[in-house]
Amino acid sequence: MSKNLSQLARRKGIDNTLFQHLVIGEDSRSKEQRRDLAKDFLVGEAIIHGTASFYDFIDGDNANKKAYVCNGSSCLCAGKQEEITQQLTEHYGAENIGHVTCLGRCAENSAFQISDENFSGDDISRLSEIVANPSLAISNENYHVECALDEAILTAEITDVADYYDLFSKISVNQSEDELLQLISDSGLRGRGGAGFPTGFKWQSCRDVKSDEKYIVCNADEGDAGAYSDRYLLEQRPHAVLFGMLMAGYLVGADTGVLYIRDEYPAAITQTEQAIEEFNQLNLAVNFSFKIIRGAGAYICGEETALLRSIEGQRPVVSVRPPFPTQSGLFGCPTVLNNVETFASIHWILAGNVEKYKALGNGKSTGSKLVSLDSSFVKPGIYEVAMGMKLSELFSIAGGYSKKLKALHIGGPLGGVVPIDIVELLTVDFESFAEHGFLLGHASVIGIPEEIKMIEYIEHLFEFTAAESCGKCYPCSLGSVRGQEMLQKAISGEQQIDSELLDDLLETMQLGSLCALGGGVPLPVKNILQYFSSEISPYLAQVKFQEAYHD
Ligand SMILES: Cc1cc2nc3c(=O)[nH]c(=O)nc-3n(C[C@H](O)[C@H](O)[C@H](O)COP(=O)(O)O)c2cc1C
Ligand code: SF4
Repeated sequence: MSKNLSQLARRKGIDNTLFQHLVIGEDSRSKEQRRDLAKDFLVGEAIIHGTASFYDFIDGDNANKKAYVCNGSSCLCAGKQEEITQQLTEHYGAENIGHVTCLGRCAENSAFQISDENFSGDDISRLSEIVANPSLAISNENYHVECALDEAILTAEITDVADYYDLFSKISVNQSEDELLQLISDSGLRGRGGAGFPTGFKWQSCRDVKSDEKYIVCNADEGDAGAYSDRYLLEQRPHAVLFGMLMAGYLVGADTGVLYIRDEYPAAITQTEQAIEEFNQLNLAVNFSFKIIRGAGAYICGEETALLRSIEGQRPVVSVRPPFPTQSGLFGCPTVLNNVETFASIHWILAGNVEKYKALGNGKSTGSKLVSLDSSFVKPGIYEVAMGMKLSELFSIAGGYSKKLKALHIGGPLGGVVPIDIVELLTVDFESFAEHGFLLGHASVIGIPEEIKMIEYIEHLFEFTAAESCGKCYPCSLGSVRGQEMLQKAISGEQQIDSELLDDLLETMQLGSLCALGGGVPLPVKNILQYFSSEISPYLAQVKFQEAYHD
């Protein structure tokens, strides 16, 4: 079924997707309009309903609110959400306030959105001005961008756009496609979306598939609370991302690049649109075009197969792999899908820097990495560091902690919770984090202050997973809800947690989930159970499974 729907979507092509009709909304609001769309796209009305009802910002409870408050983990830990909600409620009324996870304003927190404009930090003090004219009330946002390398790679400024793209003409004349692909592999570049998959290998696999139609897709759905490095790149260095996609297209034989950018990042969308316009004006002798697809507020759309189904206008449910996207991706065609930062690394590597890139890091994790630090640091911001750098050294450059913290949540909701006294052991690379039982992921860092109760933080993680689960597999869709219930009962004092039952649940989710949403959330929960046992133990009871089951 899903395959047929992909083929039906292919009929219409990337410039006319059902999903964008639903997101933009002008011709898809009423029942009649949706019926017409169903006819036009040759799908049943239930397909349209299934898709629209999945998304928070289309048909969900959160659609069409006047203001949205960020409820991501970083804003939660900063403790300002209640105050922000209250002030917005005074202006708009409670029924007009929605929530959003997250706006990527983690350097400042106190984040909210009004009429497609994001605000944070002390912006709330200008609320009357913002309410009067949101599009003219520019945010005071401020965050550090620092590079701890001798030569900036991802944070380097692009001063001359034409000159920047000149590299494409130069290298494509002087080196064969195979040679260029070999350089990507030689650099050791691994995907920055979290899993660290070798980029050269991915591109080669797509190149090896024979097909007249292939796609390059940029995953700009950065949904991990605490992460805003992709947002930084799209807003400040969009040409670096476009260049990487262009190169991928040239090397695998694709002529279309699609950027899936989350709806929560309106400025990233406009900056990228402008960069595409600049690219088009260069009239390069290449057959490659870009298309932006705007997301609609679903975390799972960051997972690659869900993202592809989302573009096609299907309900964004995770697919079993194989086939991998390089074999059967967008519209069933071979597709290279990479993270924003992965694409942004390509230009520097191919500008004669393969050896230098490889030399940065520990041999297995190479090159540079952007790390997002939230407001619990004295100088919150985006830091470009060499892979393998000591985490504590990076934190010193960022001025240290701005408040008393007991742990750091690193790598998004599915990343580990690192107690402060373990920070000293970690280096910024995939291996060091895995060896110590954590996850580098996309390298976002959220400080968990002393006053946050770990039991409540676990509940927050289960709540997030339950809200964002795509529903495909039971360990995640049911397990997250059962987990949240267990935690809620323990917090309210109604029932202590049977630790055997909780262990069982975590193991089932970890081993039985189809993707890393359900499979990943047990990691931070287990970290907390291990490192904060004295804080958690009053909530635990050693009730035998049978008794708990029959209660
Ligand atoms: C629940 C879930 C959410 C994800 N979210 C993102 C995301 O926001 N951005 C991203 O690049 N990768 C995300 N990923 C990883 C993608 O599935 C995929 O591995 C990645 O985009 C591939 O690009 P890379 O090889 O450049 O890392 C997510 C994975 C899962 C399981
Ligand atoms: S783990 Fe959760 S999000 Fe992933 S496929 Fe299963 S239900 Fe969907």
